[in-house]
Amino acid sequence: MSENSTSPSTTQDNAPVTVLGLGHIGLPTALGLAELGRQVIGADDDARKVGLIRNGDPTFYEPGVAELLAKHLKSGKFQPVDDVAAAVRAGSIIFICVGTPQKTNGQADLGQVEAVAQVVARNLNGYKLLVEKSTVPAITAQWLKRTIVRYNSGKASPAPGSALAAPPLAFDVASNPEFLREGKALEDFFHPNRIVCGVESERARDLLVNLYSPLKCPLVLTNTSTAELIKHAANAFLSMKISFINMVSDLCEKVGADVGAVARGIGLDNRIGPQFLDAGIGYGGYCFPKDLRAFIHLAEEHGVDFSLLQEVEHINQSRVDMFVGKVRHAIWNLRGKKLGILGLAFKAGTDDIREAVSLKIIETLRDEGSILRLYDPQAMPNTQRMVPASPQVSYCTSVDEVAQGAHALLLLTEWEEFRQLDLARLREVMEVPVLVDGRNLYDPEAVHRAGFEYFSIGRADPVPAGMHTSPGVALK
Ligand code: UDX
Repeated sequence: MSENSTSPSTTQDNAPVTVLGLGHIGLPTALGLAELGRQVIGADDDARKVGLIRNGDPTFYEPGVAELLAKHLKSGKFQPVDDVAAAVRAGSIIFICVGTPQKTNGQADLGQVEAVAQVVARNLNGYKLLVEKSTVPAITAQWLKRTIVRYNSGKASPAPGSALAAPPLAFDVASNPEFLREGKALEDFFHPNRIVCGVESERARDLLVNLYSPLKCPLVLTNTSTAELIKHAANAFLSMKISFINMVSDLCEKVGADVGAVARGIGLDNRIGPQFLDAGIGYGGYCFPKDLRAFIHLAEEHGVDFSLLQEVEHINQSRVDMFVGKVRHAIWNLRGKKLGILGLAFKAGTDDIREAVSLKIIETLRDEGSILRLYDPQAMPNTQRMVPASPQVSYCTSVDEVAQGAHALLLLTEWEEFRQLDLARLREVMEVPVLVDGRNLYDPEAVHRAGFEYFSIGRADPVPAGMHTSPGVALK
């Protein structure tokens, strides 16, 4: 820890909550808890990041977070610090919100989680409830317990009621998986579908039940392994829904059906539900791809054949080729064509490009020799770090600039700004008015009326007047 590191100034008496890791999950969680009235210490060992947060900069884009940060820096309910050990000493409930990136074999890398457990072990100055929020494989809680006992040099032991023996120092480990979506993190925090708490003692249960008592939603109380598995199973199931509807969309294109209507038709069945049935370019982001691979790895490790999930991943990966094939179908040769890319973030409402499908599409099109002009309302700085500007790739400041001289526009992220496009005006500045929509954002008829050739996902797109071909030369 650096010499001039920042430390929490609270005492043990007001029993603040400590949140370790101030990223996309930790920061909204910390601010949410502050808004619920708790005293929260948010710790991160990245002193630069903490410095920015202390100055009111969340360091990433998430609706509402900057405002809530300003509010609770001012109220004093949220205290960002870079002294992780001191933050552990000051808190009684300690949330682990550090990263669990994936290793090359797909397994979750739990190095940061273990590091946190070691810090907790060395700073047990009273009862602590250590709560996993990061997505971790089942039985991580057991490893956390062992780690704390080991690194406390035998001085600590799990709380009474836990499997192992008693004092001098007591702690519990719980699993309280987060289900926050990026772009809707605060909305999800304050209005969750459910809260899952995996606990191993009454004390841990009471602390968590009390903490979340202001939130009105079903509470699933269970053991730690079950709670850990719930998170993985939820993300795997949602990924499966997306891959399922994506395959249905391919079939729709073949038989002239409309995937939007199919999704509505099946989604109105309560047993299926309408959400996560938007066909498109596939899922991306920090969670789904990584968590699915970790779940597959967990199943393999335990000898369970979960090849269903391997297929979910395979389908998702093939969406890049599907989309690039659609672009090729729309404009024929890709080499030398100017393509305007609308949207880089892995979904709307965030500046996050981790595992964004857009990056893979851009890489493929660049390799094919296309000239790419990119625009995103929030994610351009992050993308520029991954894909530097070059003669083949340039960054634009508006949709109008992207469209100048383009042979096609490719819509990759469903930003609200893109729903409002003045297509008639864009048509005027494009070389060829072609729109390839990876998110089914538009009404095909309206796009045609604006004078565009339109290609979307899983829809029998009407062919504009004059574009009909003889049955022997079908373009679709
Ligand atoms: C996800 C989970 O939803 C959340 O509960 C968990 O805590 C973290 O992971 P997030 O990654 O923020 O949240 O995004 P989400 O809204 O779930 O979307 C994930 C990806 O799936 C995005 O790329 C999105 O575009 C894609 N998606 C989503 C679809 O392609 N179709 C859909 O119908 C829904």
